[in-house]
Amino acid sequence: MLREQQNFYYGGDYNPEQWDERVWLEDMRLMKKAGVNYVSVNIFSWAKLQPNEETYDFTTLDKIMNMLAENGIGADLATGTAAPPAWIARKYPESLPVDVDGTRLLPGSRQHYCPNSVDYARLAGALTRKVAERYHDHPALVMWHINNEYGCHIGECYCGKCQTDFQDWLKGKYGTTEQLNVSWSTDFWSQRYYEWEEIFLPGKTPTYANPNQQVDFKRFMSDSLLDLYKMERDILREFSVDIPIMTNLMGLHKPIDGFKWAPEMDLVSWDAYPDPHDVIPYAQFMAHDLTRSLKKKPFLLMEQAASAVNWRSQNGVKTPGVMRLWSYESIAHGADGIMFFQWRASQGGAEKFHSGMVPHSGDEDSRNFREVAELGQELRGLDELVGSEFDAQVAIVFDWENWWALELDSKPSDLVTYMRQLLAYYKVLHRLNVRVDFVHPSEDLTGYKVVFAPASYQASRDFAAKVTEYVEAGGHFVANFFSGIVDENERVYLGGYPGAYRDVLGIYVEEFAPLKHGEKHEIQTQYGDFDIAVWEEVIHLRGAEAIASFKDGYMKDMPAVAVNKFGAGTAYYVGTQPDSGYLERLLRDCLDAADIAPAFAVPDGVEVTVRRKGDVTYYFFLNHTDVTQVFPIGGTFAELVGGGAVADFMTLPARDVKILKG
Ligand code: GLA
Ligand code: ZN
Repeated sequence: MLREQQNFYYGGDYNPEQWDERVWLEDMRLMKKAGVNYVSVNIFSWAKLQPNEETYDFTTLDKIMNMLAENGIGADLATGTAAPPAWIARKYPESLPVDVDGTRLLPGSRQHYCPNSVDYARLAGALTRKVAERYHDHPALVMWHINNEYGCHIGECYCGKCQTDFQDWLKGKYGTTEQLNVSWSTDFWSQRYYEWEEIFLPGKTPTYANPNQQVDFKRFMSDSLLDLYKMERDILREFSVDIPIMTNLMGLHKPIDGFKWAPEMDLVSWDAYPDPHDVIPYAQFMAHDLTRSLKKKPFLLMEQAASAVNWRSQNGVKTPGVMRLWSYESIAHGADGIMFFQWRASQGGAEKFHSGMVPHSGDEDSRNFREVAELGQELRGLDELVGSEFDAQVAIVFDWENWWALELDSKPSDLVTYMRQLLAYYKVLHRLNVRVDFVHPSEDLTGYKVVFAPASYQASRDFAAKVTEYVEAGGHFVANFFSGIVDENERVYLGGYPGAYRDVLGIYVEEFAPLKHGEKHEIQTQYGDFDIAVWEEVIHLRGAEAIASFKDGYMKDMPAVAVNKFGAGTAYYVGTQPDSGYLERLLRDCLDAADIAPAFAVPDGVEVTVRRKGDVTYYFFLNHTDVTQVFPIGGTFAELVGGGAVADFMTLPARDVKILKG
């Protein structure tokens, strides 16, 4: 039985090995002041733990773990395998990754290992075993943290070992080269294979490489890294049956198929780095929902910056209140812990200008530390929230394999990116305070009143059948242009686009007519005319009713948006990229028809979400604006933090947050 999380976690990456031991004492004092109860240790300590292949030295880590235990701080203990020591690179140069140009990447930064290197895997496994043996029953141990941000820098490798492993992986997937030839459409451009050994990695080719070869390579690389994770996980499990095991994911991170990884972890976490120069960083907000959705359970915010990062061209600061507001954004979307990279800003090294919970000044009265400490103390009041479920109302389909396929070369328009399309819909739903889960195509849709599938270019026959059943039974389905176009082998569904959804949408698309970069046309709708961009197409109605039409060129007066009654349900089709003004009208109508409303009617710029535990409901109110907002809440509610109550009207200062219990 896994140990259950009891307290809301607060803390960060803690790297005391970079500091003199006298600083550690000050760390413990300041951690108490900041309400820190949980820290990630040993993420980048391999070189210190193992000076050579035969010798391990745990003196420093022993001291750190013991100090944490004495101070009542839990350890998220890393296996330490994310940055191999330089002696490994020297002794086993083939463990280094190779880029697409054939350049072997050098040690001297981090993550310099080929995902299929036998030597890296062997040495990482040996270290994991040592760490597990030594600390599996240490009183500070709360969680196992495997490696760090898999695929962050090295999401693919083009070395000879990866090539032969890729051939084996393909053998496993297709069985025979003939099957591969069919699935990869190799009769196009004379690409037929007779022997597995003829298959190269999709590196630099004279022109577009076979699309299936490219997507299979991405699947293979995500699987290769997952195998490394599982190797370490299995070793940890030999020693430790009740401690949760995970690795930190990266949200909207293309190389790692989160839905395939999540079942291998006990919980999911991610590292969020919104750009403080963005007023409302919707993509980051979307990634909270995506991460929670990988398991449909609370998650951990494993890293965020107290203020600025070091790795953008201009590193903006989080102005007063923003760090707190964005921390609560993740809690409001299902986080049961708020962690930072890192505890103390480093004095040296590449990340020395990355903010820490403790700044270079060490000043307890700095705004940076004050905000960190105040939030930490406040979050101590959140223990009862731990384990509460996010209460989603609608679903957006998310599929890494589709992301990979959609964004390959040779498409009608490279302006059609997955994030742009998902965000167009997510933003409107967020602004309308509709609570969103992301679902993988293999998941059940029946619990959701509306399912959105933007840019679901690659859709399997199984998923298409599921959508048909879902709508027939009364569901509401929303798809947009360039969705339902190809099957899982990237072969176009014939007989008129979008083959996978044609019947349920009651339309047939004859041809695509993408717009130029920056070009704006218009659509005419019952709500007036609105700008469109990116895409137009020729849509024929086959049962659906047009609710908007194009206004320009040869498509003038032809359908642009259509609604189809199908069985007991309704399917919406949006054949262009309308501006958010129109999308908001359209989605409001669709949500009304599906009987979906926000938990409270709140002013623009105020967000409201819901988490539930047993019969207690927690309502989160977040003011994303710069002014105080006052609005009716129709009753008296207890406040979760501070023990007060709010009656009838909520007064929410700029960038402030309140949690009410119902
Ligand atoms: C990532 C890593 C950390 C650190 C931060 C900096 O999230 O996991 O080690 O490099 O980025 O933002
Ligand atoms: Zn390799």
